[in-house]
Amino acid sequence: MPKFCVIGGSRYVGKLLVKRLQAADHQVTVINRGSTPAPAGTEHLTVDRNDEAALSAALGSATFDVVIDQICYTPVQAAIAARAFHGRTRRYVMTSTIEVYDPATAALDAGVTLIDTADSYHWYAGEAGHNELLVARALARYGRDTSHVLVATKGGRGRPGDGSWTVNATPAHLKRAAEASRKRLGVEAIGLYQLHKPDPSVPWAESVGALRELLDAGTIPAAGISNVTTAQIRQAHAILGDALVSVQNQYSPAVRDSEPELRLSTQLGLAFLPWSPLGGISRSSLDGPSGPTSATIAFHRIAAEHGASPQQITLAWLLTRSPTVIPVPGASRPASIQSSARAVEIELSEEEQTQLEDALPLSG
Ligand SMILES: NC(=O)c1ccc[n+]([C@@H]2O[C@H](COP(=O)([O-])OP(=O)(O)OC[C@H]3O[C@@H](n4cnc5c(N)ncnc54)[C@H](OP(=O)(O)O)[C@@H]3O)[C@@H](O)[C@H]2O)c1
Repeated sequence: MPKFCVIGGSRYVGKLLVKRLQAADHQVTVINRGSTPAPAGTEHLTVDRNDEAALSAALGSATFDVVIDQICYTPVQAAIAARAFHGRTRRYVMTSTIEVYDPATAALDAGVTLIDTADSYHWYAGEAGHNELLVARALARYGRDTSHVLVATKGGRGRPGDGSWTVNATPAHLKRAAEASRKRLGVEAIGLYQLHKPDPSVPWAESVGALRELLDAGTIPAAGISNVTTAQIRQAHAILGDALVSVQNQYSPAVRDSEPELRLSTQLGLAFLPWSPLGGISRSSLDGPSGPTSATIAFHRIAAEHGASPQQITLAWLLTRSPTVIPVPGASRPASIQSSARAVEIELSEEEQTQLEDALPLSG
């Protein structure tokens, strides 16, 4: 019986793949981090594929006829896999040989018209722009008109590769970063370029001045700012005028510190993009560790009444906060983005909005 190993075989395409292999009487070992159970009838190795020592230890003396790696996204991961599986398999099939239905393509299929990314959305050192390249690839491969899709990216932060984030909003860096983003996205001008975070070591006016220069040079037609205070919004608006079009701050039912910035953005006619609108990666803002809150109960109850998920109600609620709100929910699963896109169809009545508002912690 041929022995297959599927890396990341517990979700969507992976499940389908495992099913097909099993139907053909192949023995399947699934490797994942254990966040989701492996499909029935498979051998399951729970290990982080990015941890080379742990991966080699978990593999022990196992050998395979074919290893299918569906979640190899970076050269660093490819190198780890190549070393860990050396001598253990006759064939190693990387994700690039399988058409994975990625979240960006799912977003386009669902009618999403704004994709938010950043040059710092990568994990390993030296891979700046990784997510921008994924977005550009999804758009290029889409095969249908995507000229109505706005790709927004950001510059001014870095990821050294140890999990931490750095800030660099010097004009020189921002101008270099924007040009690099423009090239990666494969466009003449970046649809919307956002200054990711104020740099405490650089006067705000100087960082914003770099956006002015990028606008004048035609590298960007519109500018945005992120993680900002009302004073910073006012100053940027004075410098950039109508070319300042958006503010991106953290805002969700659980985190409402940016209520003043939301109000000011609405007043100035700036799009307000709440980041982590659902509360953050891998957790819902409604599922706090200390058990259900009044907000949890209200969002879940109204969700049940609409036949929707609490996340969809969260997005629908965000849309009621201001006509300029455009939530940017993150998703690693196509199903998440499809479900989020459907949230625009949900209309919350005045009464429901009041009930949610009353159940939420007091806002600033
Ligand atoms: N400007 C900034 O400084 C900054 C900082 C952080 C984030 N952001 C932006 O904000 C975006 C979103 O933030 P985030 O990813 O941290 O937090 P988030 O959108 O609040 O939460 C993402 C999580 O929610 C899940 N999810 C998404 N849609 C769902 C749905 N309809 N139903 C159920 N679960 C759903 C996702 O699941 P799956 O992964 O399983 O699909 C993921 O675990 C980022 O992509 C980025 O563009 C900006």
